[in-house]
Amino acid sequence: MSVLLEITDLTVGYETAAGERVVLVDSVSLRLDEGEVLCLVGESGSGKSVTMLAVLGLLPPSLTIFSGSVRFRGRELVGTDDETLRRLRGAELGMVFQDPMTTLNPVRRVGTQIGRALAVHQRLDAKARKRRVVELLASVGIPQPAERARAYPHQWSGGMRQRAVIAMAMANDPAVLIADEPTTALDVTIQAQLMEVLAQARARSGAAMVLITHDLGLVAQYADRVAIMYAGRVVETGSVWQIFDDATHPYTRGLQSSLLGHAGAGRAYAIPGSPPSPTQRPAGCGFAPRCEFAGKTTECATAAPPLVAFGDGRGLACPPALTAPLRQDISA
Ligand SMILES: Nc1ncnc2c1ncn2[C@@H]1O[C@H](COP(=O)(O)OP(=O)(O)OP(=O)(O)O)[C@@H](O)[C@H]1O
Ligand code: SF4
Ligand SMILES: [Mg+2]
Repeated sequence: MSVLLEITDLTVGYETAAGERVVLVDSVSLRLDEGEVLCLVGESGSGKSVTMLAVLGLLPPSLTIFSGSVRFRGRELVGTDDETLRRLRGAELGMVFQDPMTTLNPVRRVGTQIGRALAVHQRLDAKARKRRVVELLASVGIPQPAERARAYPHQWSGGMRQRAVIAMAMANDPAVLIADEPTTALDVTIQAQLMEVLAQARARSGAAMVLITHDLGLVAQYADRVAIMYAGRVVETGSVWQIFDDATHPYTRGLQSSLLGHAGAGRAYAIPGSPPSPTQRPAGCGFAPRCEFAGKTTECATAAPPLVAFGDGRGLACPPALTAPLRQDISA
């Protein structure tokens, strides 16, 4: 399987007025193979969105890539000029964000906007472009698409708008789709439906996808591989089955317990405590203040553990778990 997107040691943050660096995304390495779905999972503030905004060249001006590399089909994107990045987005890299109105222009007709996305990247005459817009809207389940294409975004429901965003993301047949909590802002009754629209659009095109989500149910349903983030770092990676059946990092195991309700009948388990803020991260492992195994070795306190490859395609950033199986302690 060939690698499409390769992120290596990506570090992103900002500098304070006093010249101190605040690191939000810390030495993140991730790989996306052709056609696969990689789910990026982690508590709020763990750096999922900042990582993917950095990949897309869409960081807010206050944030900087301090170091690291992002390669798309072998080509370095860090330091690439804005125009090249703009061309890549929308052509090779499709995006679906939580709020459809971050993508849609409120004062332009939906069909015109999708047509423009096509016009930028494909040479079609006006008639062929209109036909393609209608096809795209039909493919994401918009009824009477020719008529509806003439409406403005505010005339559509939130679910319809997100369908339009999916249509726009797919317009130029991208190789990679980046979907950041694509259904979270929608009414819960239509979230599953919308996720299925996105998954089907992706499967039809064969694009690879990075899906950012808090919902481990969606991960189980759609992921091929999973990367777990905590306090700006990737702490565990593996195939979806490795992560669900054989989670090794204490944080991943905590997440799993929350999903499975290990606290007992009717009670949801939550990992005690909360993640450190980027300005107050511990010197050692970011999870140490919440980890019941912290202090078992000095490694937990000295430096943030690197992600070490072990076993069959797995990665783990917890030295004690690499040398002594913590899961025996956990299940004891
Ligand atoms: N423009 C910014 N300036 C300063 N700090 C920022 C900025 N954007 C994000 N952050 C901080 O960076 C950290 C990572 O944020 P990010 O949005 O990537 O988290 P996330 O994992 O996507 O969380 P969520 O699940 O809530 O979307 C957070 O502590 C956040 O407060
Ligand atoms: S490195 Fe130490 S503190 Fe961090 S998760 Fe592993 S055992 Fe816990
Ligand atoms: Mg986010």
